Parts: sequence; structure tokens; C-alpha cells
Amino acid sequence: MRAIEITRPGPPEVLEWREVPDPCPDRGEVLIEVTAAGLNRADLLQRQGFYDPPPGAPSYPGMEASGVVIEVGEDVERFTPGDEVCALLAGGGYAERVAVPWQQVMPAPEGVTLVEAAGLPEVACTVWSNVFMTGRLRRSETLLVHGGASGIGTFAIQLAKAFGSRVVTTAGSAAKLDRLKELGADEVINYREEDFAERVTADVILDIMGAKYLSRNIRTLRTGGRLVIIGLQGGAKAELDLGALLAKRAAVHATTLRSRPVDEKGVIVRGVVDNVWPLVSAGAVRPVVYAEVPMAQAAEAHRMLDSGEHIGKILLVR
Ligand SMILES: NC(=O)c1ccc[n+]([C@@H]2O[C@H](COP(=O)([O-])OP(=O)(O)OC[C@H]3O[C@@H](n4cnc5c(N)ncnc54)[C@H](OP(=O)(O)O)[C@@H]3O)[C@@H](O)[C@H]2O)c1
Repeated sequence: MRAIEITRPGPPEVLEWREVPDPCPDRGEVLIEVTAAGLNRADLLQRQGFYDPPPGAPSYPGMEASGVVIEVGEDVERFTPGDEVCALLAGGGYAERVAVPWQQVMPAPEGVTLVEAAGLPEVACTVWSNVFMTGRLRRSETLLVHGGASGIGTFAIQLAKAFGSRVVTTAGSAAKLDRLKELGADEVINYREEDFAERVTADVILDIMGAKYLSRNIRTLRTGGRLVIIGLQGGAKAELDLGALLAKRAAVHATTLRSRPVDEKGVIVRGVVDNVWPLVSAGAVRPVVYAEVPMAQAAEAHRMLDSGEHIGKILLVR
């Protein structure tokens, strides 16, 4: 089969569409003929040599894909050839076929195309696990979403609104903020013009900036608040004022999805299928697709993601 290989660490041009060995499903794995794959910010780091895939994962990038099951290994539950699915991957989505543990596979939700479904596993699993499982967001509470225009942000805004919470979000341009209001955000803040900590308080914060926002995020938390850090776009090291934290009886969490064991991913995936897919099928939460790019032109898609102008997801299609 063909896949996008990272020929050496570097700029988008290092991505090449090449012949690679066909994957073969191991015990417990499902083989998917890929229809489309989603891009994620972490793919840019992997391309640059800063984020290796976990041991055992394919070396080529791609943390999510959609397609049709063409083969199942021994001991696979729930899936059979012909099923239309999408999956959370440890790697290897930028390819014609991918093998993945069945626990990480989801039926493609009704009401979206199989191409659109490629952009759902990462955002749905990340938002469900961090905002709802770890952050325990409740209906009466306020969620602050940093980077609302990101793939993750556009999904977090919609899902929290669908569950009845109030949502505040940050982004860096008026055009992005307008789109985030359309997606349901109650309040939007241009972080280039205003300090969010001067304007809002929140019960749960979904943060992608890390060090740069740590003290302001803690200032923004209400008593009993939960800060969940999933990205380090503003650095990894900062001073933590434990006094401020204990006065508010607040918590700081930091998590990553990719390196979790298969069983843990399976629990998250089941939570998504049970709790999130019905909202997607009902149209309450929609995929936000910025662009569909032919898979062989992955370099072009990486340039697009790098530019930061997108709102939502960029997809690679076969
Ligand atoms: N831990 C995990 O398991 C996990 C899983 C998935 C994703 N993530 C992380 O989640 C983040 C989003 O991922 P993605 O793939 O959805 O990324 P993406 O679509 O590339 O979006 C990145 C966003 O960051 C925003 N941004 C940059 N500087 C900002 C600032 N100072 N304040 C607020 N927003 C800012 C950019 O928009 P503006 O133009 O508005 O600046 C852009 O929308 C990444 O950091 C990624 O690593 C973590």
C-alpha cells in the first residue's frame, strides 16, 4: 500500500507518498481501508522530529482515520468486514490501510459523511475525556476553552453547549471569534486585545497554552475549579502558586491521550460512542471541516495547519 512517510525531520516537503509494507491485523486488531484521515497539531511536531509515535505504532503520521473494515484479527469484538468506522490511532492514519486495536474503533456516527467522520475521533475523545471525565463539567457551570478555533476548540464549544453549560472561548482574530459565536459560544475574547483573566471566571478550563497561561488560568478559576491542560503551546515550565490553588480548593490536571494503554483508550471510546455520538447524529454537534486535501498532498495540508488560519479540522482524503 502507499502511505505518507516522514523521510527526515523537517519542513512539510519531507512528507512523501510512498510504497510501504501492507499492515496485517494482529490478534485483537481491525484492518481499515482508509477513506480519510484527520490532521492534528501533534503531527507537525512528529514531522519535525519532536514527537515520536509510541512503541509499536507505525512510523508514518496520522492519529485518526475513517474507512471501511476489510479484515479482523482473532478475538476482535463488535466489528466485522464492511462496517463503516472511524478510529483513534497511535499513528499510521496517513495511509491507504491501517490496523488498530478494536477497542479504539467506533462506528461512524449517523448523520455525517465517512470523510467528515475522520476528523471526529481525536476531538471527541480528547474533549470527552478531559472536559467531562477529568474536568467533570456540569450543566450549571462555565467552561473556558482556549484556542476555540482549533479542531479541539470547535468541538469542545459545541459539546459543552449541547450538555447545557455556559461556554467562554479565546481566539486571535475577529473572524474566528464570529465563527465561534455561530458555534454557540456565549462569550468570546480576542486574546491579542484583552486579558481573559480580567474578564471571566470559569469552573473548568480546557487549556492548550500551558506555562504561559498557568497563573492567569488559576486566577480565572472559581472555588472548586478544575484546570485541564492538554497542550503546551506556551511552554512546559512555570511557577505554580499553591497558595492561590488551595485557597480555591482547585485542581490542575495535565493529560495526554496518545500514550495511554489500549484499555484506557477503550473506556474513553465507549464513553464517546454512548454519550457523544447521539448528539452528533442529532445534529447538535457538527464536524467543523476547514479543508479536504488529497492524501498524497499531505505537505500542502501541513502548510495550511502551520499557518494557523484554519478554523476546525483539516482532512486528508483518498
Ligand atoms: N493532550 C492531548 O491528549 C491532546 C489531544 C489533542 C490535541 N491536543 C492539543 O490541543 C491543542 C489543539 O490541537 P488541534 O490539533 O486542534 O490544533 P490546531 O487546530 O492547530 O489549533 C491550534 C490553535 O491554537 C490557537 N492559539 C495559538 N496561540 C493561542 C493563544 N495564545 N491563546 C489561545 N489560542 C491560541 C490558534 O488559533 P488563534 O489564531 O486563535 O491563535 C489555533 O486555533 C494543541 O495544543 C494540541 O497539541 C492535546
